[in-house]
Amino acid sequence: MTIVNSHNDWDPLEEIIIGVSDFWCVPNEEPGFKPPQRSGKRSDEHIDKAAIQMDNLERVLTSQCNVTVRRPEKIDFTQPAKTPFFSLAHQHGASCPRDTLLVIGNEIMETTMSRRARYFESMAYRKIMNDYFEKDKEMLWTMVPKPTMADAMYNVDFPWDINCQERKQWIRNYKYQINETEPLFDAAEVLRLGKDLIVQQSTTANKKGIEWLRRHVKSRGYRVHEIHFPDDLYPIHIDSTLAPLVPPTKERKGILVNCPERPIAKEDKERIFEGSNWEIIDAPPPNTMTVPDLCMSSAWLSMNMLLVGPDRAVVEETEIPTINFLESLGIKCIRVPYRDCYRFGGGLHCHTLDVRRRGECYNYFP
Ligand code: ARG
Repeated sequence: MTIVNSHNDWDPLEEIIIGVSDFWCVPNEEPGFKPPQRSGKRSDEHIDKAAIQMDNLERVLTSQCNVTVRRPEKIDFTQPAKTPFFSLAHQHGASCPRDTLLVIGNEIMETTMSRRARYFESMAYRKIMNDYFEKDKEMLWTMVPKPTMADAMYNVDFPWDINCQERKQWIRNYKYQINETEPLFDAAEVLRLGKDLIVQQSTTANKKGIEWLRRHVKSRGYRVHEIHFPDDLYPIHIDSTLAPLVPPTKERKGILVNCPERPIAKEDKERIFEGSNWEIIDAPPPNTMTVPDLCMSSAWLSMNMLLVGPDRAVVEETEIPTINFLESLGIKCIRVPYRDCYRFGGGLHCHTLDVRRRGECYNYFP
């Protein structure tokens, strides 16, 4: 039985993992992260509100879209953790399978993550991974080399103040709080376009991590392209910055939307996309620039939709400009309430991981 098979974000969806909000914590300060708000466990009220919306998403996908939904284990990430290299008073949470796990065809990779608080996060998916491994005889289960996350892996002089001039210079020079001591990447930095994987070097992926991925998939004919968005002063996870909406066909180019506040670097656009079958256009604006209190993401979670097929998407119900735009492209929108989940590290795309989509791996860059 084939369970794991996914090559892009738009083929018809058949099986998905949706995260959980339980035991979710804002991590403490560590070399790779400075919390923008008080750290510690999210309130039960916020956790429950998000759980209702995530459970509703599960219901919608199951009943309206005929998709099999799996959920991670509810591990108590409010617990401390200790390794030979660091110790933590508490951890993070398993709301975002997209951040941790990367599906490349029949392979699921547990990626390194880049912050200590997320070191053990993929354990929440161990039962699911085991189950897939037993039932799907072709499934490849990979763990990217576990980093030490020792102090030496971080640039302690990183300017955390997002508004200072120094910060701009660091980001424009593609320098972040993580350095190149060991390979690091979060799965959510990878945008999958069939044989081409677009990866953002960022606060959660370094060049060595991207190089690890390149060598790992090379023999299967994948190409890994590194990409930058120099105006993004907190580059983290590509899925609210660049997102595919429609694939290329013989008749027309495919469409990728780019957050207009974080345009793709000119040289990357030329190098990767010039002469290709892809058109890059500005993403429609969020309905409001106000995010729920304690949300750590930007309003551009409006771009963070889930395509359930080439002509159908699940979108947060208040993101009207996005909905209108998708419908103008002939993509029908299933509207779900999802704003309470924005406090849990992201939106509909972050909180899900498509495990199986009906389709093959194509070269969309001939
Ligand atoms: N960088 C994004 C923003 O704040 C958040 C992306 C969240 N994505 C994710 N996979 N967790 O706009």
